[in-house]
Amino acid sequence: MGCAISGLAAKADFGEKNTEDAAALRPSEDQIQMIKDSWRVIRDDIAKVGIIMFVRLFETHPECKDVFFLFRDVQDLERLRTSRELRAHGLRVMSFIEKSVARLDQLERLEVLALELGKSHYHYNAPPKYYSYVGAEFISAVQPILKEQWTAELEEAWKTMFHYVTSLMKRGYKEESARQHHLTVSPKDRPEKRNTAL
Ligand code: HEM
Repeated sequence: MGCAISGLAAKADFGEKNTEDAAALRPSEDQIQMIKDSWRVIRDDIAKVGIIMFVRLFETHPECKDVFFLFRDVQDLERLRTSRELRAHGLRVMSFIEKSVARLDQLERLEVLALELGKSHYHYNAPPKYYSYVGAEFISAVQPILKEQWTAELEEAWKTMFHYVTSLMKRGYKEESARQHHLTVSPKDRPEKRNTAL
C-alpha cells in the first residue's frame, strides 16, 4: 500500500532539511503499521529506553544538557542513569511517543499535539536545532530490544515518524517565538494605526 507521498517520507533522515511542509513528511500506511507493531514490544521497556536515550543524548551532544536546569552541572553521566528526575523526564518523553503512536491513524490530532509541544519547548528554552538528535538516540536505544525484528524498513519508519513530529515541534516553536516577539515589541515600534474617525 503506502500513500502517494511515501517516496518522500522514505528518504527521511535526521539531517537538517526543509521542514516547513510537515504534511509531506507523514509516514506511509505501511510505516504506521510497522511502528505500531514494534511499539507493542518497546513499550514494556519505556522507562529504560527513556533513560538510555537521554544519557546518550547528553554524551553525544553535551550542549543539550545545559537546557536542563537539574542536569546541567552533573559531570558524571553514569550518575544520571540512576537519577529519579531523569527517569521521570524520560518517561514524559516516552509517554508523548506513546500518544503519537496512538494518533498515527488521526494525524490531524497528532499535528495539534506536536505543535503545542513545540510551543512549550520555546518556554523551556530548548531550541529546534536539538530536536532531531532525539530520534537517532531513540533508535539506538530500541534496536537491541527488538533484536532480529529490527529491519532497515523499520528504522526508516521510525526515522520518518520522528522527522514528522520534530518538524511540527519546530513549527510550533517558531510560531510561539514570533508570538512572543510580537508581544514584546514596544508600542512605538508597532505600525501606526490610522485614526479613521477624523
Ligand atoms: C523528539 C523530541 C522531543 C520530544 C518528543 C520531547 C517531549 C517532551 C515532553 C512530552 C515534555 C514534558 C512537558 C510537556 O509536555 O510540555 C518535555 C519537557 C522538556 N523538554 Fe523535551 N522533548 C523533545 C526534545 C527535547 C530536547 C532536544 C530538549 C533539550 C535539549 C528538551 C528539553 C525539555 C525540557 C527542558 C523540558 C522541561 C522539563 C521537564 O519536563 O522535565 N526536549 N519534552
